Amino acid sequence: MSVTSSPATAFPQARTCPYHPPAAYPEMAAQGPLARVTLYDGREVWAVTGHAEARALLIDPRLSADRQNPSFPVLVPRAERQDDVELALLGVDDPRHSRQRRMLIPAFGLKRIAAMRPWIQRTVDGLLDAMLAAGPGAELVSAYALPVPSMSICYLLGLPYADHDFFESASRELIGAPGPAEARAARDKLTAYLHGLVADKENGAGGPDGLLDELITGPLAEDRLDRDELVMLTLLLLIAGHETTSNMISLGTYTLLEHPDQLAALRTDPALIPGAVEELMRYLSVADGMVRVATEDIEVHGETIRAGEGIIFPASVVNRDAAVYADPDALDVRRSARHHIAFGFGVHQCLGQNLARAELEIALGTLVTRIPTLRLAVAPDEVAVKPAGSLQGLYALPVTW
Ligand code: HEM
Repeated sequence: MSVTSSPATAFPQARTCPYHPPAAYPEMAAQGPLARVTLYDGREVWAVTGHAEARALLIDPRLSADRQNPSFPVLVPRAERQDDVELALLGVDDPRHSRQRRMLIPAFGLKRIAAMRPWIQRTVDGLLDAMLAAGPGAELVSAYALPVPSMSICYLLGLPYADHDFFESASRELIGAPGPAEARAARDKLTAYLHGLVADKENGAGGPDGLLDELITGPLAEDRLDRDELVMLTLLLLIAGHETTSNMISLGTYTLLEHPDQLAALRTDPALIPGAVEELMRYLSVADGMVRVATEDIEVHGETIRAGEGIIFPASVVNRDAAVYADPDALDVRRSARHHIAFGFGVHQCLGQNLARAELEIALGTLVTRIPTLRLAVAPDEVAVKPAGSLQGLYALPVTW
């Protein structure tokens, strides 16, 4: 049966187990490295499930990330195109993309992030001190998994963390919006807040110094960046900076608690932590569905992806390609999980990956060594999983020790 005559799988689907892809995804992968999927609006697009094919296509310049393209596939109603809203970085192609990215690269480079590590460690220690003092027992998302990345991105950007209740709940409204109108309302709240913050900073009253201040006194003052673009860039950094990593900390903790042998290995040998973070990134693939549109016909594995067709990359499936990872459904903190696409691949590969790795290594490493008796406070299947089409993760994680 050819790929095009196989029944199309609905995409995205909700996970039943928090750390495994939905049951229908591996079946879709069994069709070969390319499969057909149906989106909520009835449109059929390609899903790339093979690791080699995904990496080749994600660096192919015939694929576009331009969300203003009317053919761009939409995974959930909230992401429907709005003519007057241009997403920064993730939603644009070159030359606009590389101009925006170049301005941000130094702030997220290895050297700057390495210099931030002692601050992250102090932050993590302080949060754990407070949690232990208030315990035993805590809700790990609100006590730890969310504050670590939220405080870190505020520190890096120069945003007042005192505003965190506002931007965390508005971000949740945006990511979880049922439709485009609600998404617009949430985005408008956040952009109004950021416009106000930029104005305050220009008047010398906008909280601590950080990347946002560098962008105001550099590119904005020099007319290399306009005000709306600056606000959209900051919005992306703010949301990507706290939502993704917090899901990885909570889901990573849950997954380790469900794999006691792996957790014991980390406690015995903390040198395994950096490799374990890569393995958890591969295994959990929390950003599970990158999206592109073809701008020219492309031959892949005997199939032709036509210009204008949509292409989805389900990372949870690509990162479990048995041709690359032996026994891919097993969590193995000792394996080399390199070359996963959990941070994407190609020009849009995650700008914040050095920061995310630093936070995850410190947050997970410190948590498992400081609280050796950490355990779930509820049955594993009582932990609610986030819905399909959003970043995968947990709403809450009750733990005790
Ligand atoms: C563990 C946490 C994270 C995960 C799983 C993750 C995942 C991803 C993925 C898969 C992409 C590529 C999307 C695509 O190609 O369509 C991406 C891009 C991006 N990420 Fe992350 N990310 C994480 C943390 C962060 C952090 C901490 C930041 C910091 C601000 C960040 C900022 C960005 C930005 C700005 C882009 C767009 C880059 C571009 O288009 O050039 N991410 N991320």
